[in-house]
Amino acid sequence: MSEKSLFCGMNRPADPNNLTDPEKKHMPVIECPDAVKAGEPFKVSIKVGAIPHVMEEAHNIQWIDVYFGQNFNVRIDLTPVFTKPDVTVTLVKHGKHRTSTLRVVERCNLHGQWETSKEITINE
Ligand SMILES: [Fe+2]
Repeated sequence: MSEKSLFCGMNRPADPNNLTDPEKKHMPVIECPDAVKAGEPFKVSIKVGAIPHVMEEAHNIQWIDVYFGQNFNVRIDLTPVFTKPDVTVTLVKHGKHRTSTLRVVERCNLHGQWETSKEITINE
């Protein structure tokens, strides 16, 4: 049986409560409020990962994308050597939903795409 390619689909931890070192290096870490007010800006800090990922020419994080559900919000393109995958973005959540799933996806040039998500409560 062949091993699943890291570049086939989205990589997620086998056991979210017991991450391996490669998972800790690739899973985005999200810091943001658990609840926000509709229409008001809030900050989301993102780093890759709990164990910092290298940013070498041959091995690096290429970009970080941020979504609410399936809706794209922002992409940060990164350059190896001169940047760190440690960014803060300001978002504004509108809409009628009481909760929304903040999804952060990053791509490593050698290890594919990895996603972390967080439920956020939206107050009127
Ligand atoms: Fe990697």
